[in-house]
Amino acid sequence: MSSSRLFSRVLDVASTGKFPRLQKWVWRRIYNLLSLSWRDQDWRFMNYGFVPAGPAFPLSAEDEAERAFIGLYQQAVEGLPIAGKRVLEIGSGRGGGSRYIARYHAPASIVGLDYSPDTVRRARRINKDTPSLTFETGDAENLPFADGSFDIVVNIESSHCYGDVPAFAREVSRVLAPGGWFTFADMRSKNQLTALSGQLGAPGLDLVEDRNISKGVVAALNAAEARKRERIGKSRLLKHFMTEFSGSKGSALYKGLSRGDVIYVARRYRKMD
Ligand SMILES: C[S@@+](CC[C@H](N)C(=O)[O-])C[C@H]1O[C@@H](n2cnc3c(N)ncnc32)[C@H](O)[C@@H]1O
Repeated sequence: MSSSRLFSRVLDVASTGKFPRLQKWVWRRIYNLLSLSWRDQDWRFMNYGFVPAGPAFPLSAEDEAERAFIGLYQQAVEGLPIAGKRVLEIGSGRGGGSRYIARYHAPASIVGLDYSPDTVRRARRINKDTPSLTFETGDAENLPFADGSFDIVVNIESSHCYGDVPAFAREVSRVLAPGGWFTFADMRSKNQLTALSGQLGAPGLDLVEDRNISKGVVAALNAAEARKRERIGKSRLLKHFMTEFSGSKGSALYKGLSRGDVIYVARRYRKMD
């Protein structure tokens, strides 16, 4: 079996929900390990990135180095009515995406939620220059927020870790105010796309947009290759694992996305009034 098909199989098994506790436990350990082993202060993202096909979106010079990773957030929020609104990011990692939304899209407030306490501590430390942004520890499947307390919910490259995606979608629907938006991006094996639609179709959430953005993700993997190689070189632990995990050229993920065995999807849902 080729490595790309193997990766797609791993995603299949991880998405069946047959071993939800194990799946969740493994991903939690992985992200805590990453938080400890990748210590660079300036590394604010843990996603594969996205390069849009059209003209480059505006960014200040200080953020240029992160353009590919910010791209995944830019496509997720482009055109959404964020100014003055309450935003929640679920699975915010080191907080670079929430920081981008806070600084470029002027929400009233933005909360980044992640279930890895080490990652939340780090996110607080490296994003303390952004006053409208706070971070909390919590589980996507059991959100520690009141009904209707957000206008926009953002979820980027995190849901493949969840043990119960339908529970997550129900929670998103619950915390969204009527008329609010849920913007989602993540990868699945081709075989799991139909199941994903069922899993995310919680009562109250209407699917408004559904795109395959794999091409732009592969372009971002290409753009970030040199930087990743340099970081992997510095990493003391698990070099082989980090090569696979970071989606470097030659990794199973890179091949899966390039061949279409794995699809990166971007969806938008609207909470019905
Ligand atoms: C690939 S990282 C993406 C982080 C961030 N969205 C970004 O693009 O940089 C996935 C994140 O999801 C978080 N996560 C996984 N399962 C979670 C859960 N059940 N509840 C909250 N966060 C979770 C992980 O701790 C990790 O920080």
